[in-house]
Amino acid sequence: MNHTQALSNPIFKIVSQAADELGMDCYVIGGFVRDFLLERGTAKDIDIVAIGSGIELAKKVAALLKKKPQVSVFKNFGTAMLRHGDIELEFVGARKESYHRDSRKPVVEDGTLADDQNRRDFTINALALSLNADNFGELLDPFDGVSDLKKKIIRTPLEPGITYSDDPLRMMRAIRFATQLNFKIEQNSLLAITENKDRITIISKERIVDELHKILASNVPSTGFSLLHKTGLLPYILPELVALQGIEEIEGQRHKDNFWHTLEVVDNISKTTDNLWLRWAALLHDIGKAPTKKFHKKIGWTFHGHEFVGSKMVYKLFKRLRMPLNDKMKFVQKMVLMSSRPIVLSEDYATDSAVRRLVFDAGENVEDLMTLCEADITTKNPKKQRRYKNNFKIVREKIIEVEERDHIRKFQPPVSGEEIMATFNLKPSKEIGIIKEAIKEAILEGEIPNEYEAAKEFMLAKGKAIGLTPA
Ligand code: CTP
Repeated sequence: MNHTQALSNPIFKIVSQAADELGMDCYVIGGFVRDFLLERGTAKDIDIVAIGSGIELAKKVAALLKKKPQVSVFKNFGTAMLRHGDIELEFVGARKESYHRDSRKPVVEDGTLADDQNRRDFTINALALSLNADNFGELLDPFDGVSDLKKKIIRTPLEPGITYSDDPLRMMRAIRFATQLNFKIEQNSLLAITENKDRITIISKERIVDELHKILASNVPSTGFSLLHKTGLLPYILPELVALQGIEEIEGQRHKDNFWHTLEVVDNISKTTDNLWLRWAALLHDIGKAPTKKFHKKIGWTFHGHEFVGSKMVYKLFKRLRMPLNDKMKFVQKMVLMSSRPIVLSEDYATDSAVRRLVFDAGENVEDLMTLCEADITTKNPKKQRRYKNNFKIVREKIIEVEERDHIRKFQPPVSGEEIMATFNLKPSKEIGIIKEAIKEAILEGEIPNEYEAAKEFMLAKGKAIGLTPA
């Protein structure tokens, strides 16, 4: 079968010319071919495999291009990379590899195309299109990758135990592709992942997190997390989630399984937002429930303070996974910490002051918080489901209403500390804090609007009430 239409970008003709001039066979391989056949568009990362020196081929391609792009050479790996517009071309010589048990660093020898395809992770990633002029666009598919694409199957070219043991990151990749593409992992592969799960420990945290991000960014992330769970990889990566699994029953009182609940929340939120960090917040919103779980004879199961404990756990988790401890992490912490606030509002009639406090505490993130809490509704009782949703709708309307009137979101005290000092002829002292706090409280409670005149009047009254006299 010929696939020249996949190679319509003129760059492929240049690579073809370069290879023919060097008398070298070369192919485009991997994700580019897979995504083209899946009609996922044409990828911008293009992997070229040369039967010979990939570095030499890259240099020749660069020389033939008008703009003469720079070639980055990675001698140790025998690879070279160049950029052409928004395309990144990666060149590698065909390899035959074998690995040591305790490292991902392979022993590399030159090989044929077949050797190179053998050492790739999945049949759907081993598809190659020839680039030489005499067979330009010819598909080389020794493992029936096309048929696996049609059947939606993730399968390894070699015996799966070998492929995963060679590079344990592939266990995560299998699960990630299954999630992204909505494919099934073939049974023997799934078994091999389960058997090799502890080998994930030799993989760097950064690479693991990369795959987690991709799973979370998929349409139905629960596919990936339940596969991580099923294969036994999850305890190595996110033990906090594993700890949420299970239902306990004492004296006939049960609590829900917070692991499966969490996965439902993540799927829910993925329908309404692409914000990766909000999806992380959904994944972690209940992690404080495992360490705070208690049973009380009278009231049953409680998880007191789980939001606070959970937000502290977010920091430790990010640190352990070498994720950035920056504003993204703080955002996730804040979402976890506040994750029950709107729910309380939605269960009851939400007063204006309660909504104002919510907006005050959540600030810029109030919409994200609402999105998280709406996703958290997983009750199977249609009546309750409707009631909660409707209440959230009301809360959202009130947020807009209250915000228009009082501008709480980016709250700035309407009367400054300096003005309080000048009014009562005060030196820096705790009275200033007391008055400022009282003004803020009065605004949040709706006693006064968030305006200068009203706040000034309130300040005078409050000052007098605590025994101060205006200057
Ligand atoms: N590959 C592999 N084993 C790995 C990583 C990559 O065999 N652990 C091979 C696969 O053939 C893969 C190719 O290298 O198709 C390119 O890898 P990469 O760019 O990481 O992934 P893509 O398949 O291009 O997919 P995506 O861009 O979605 O990650």
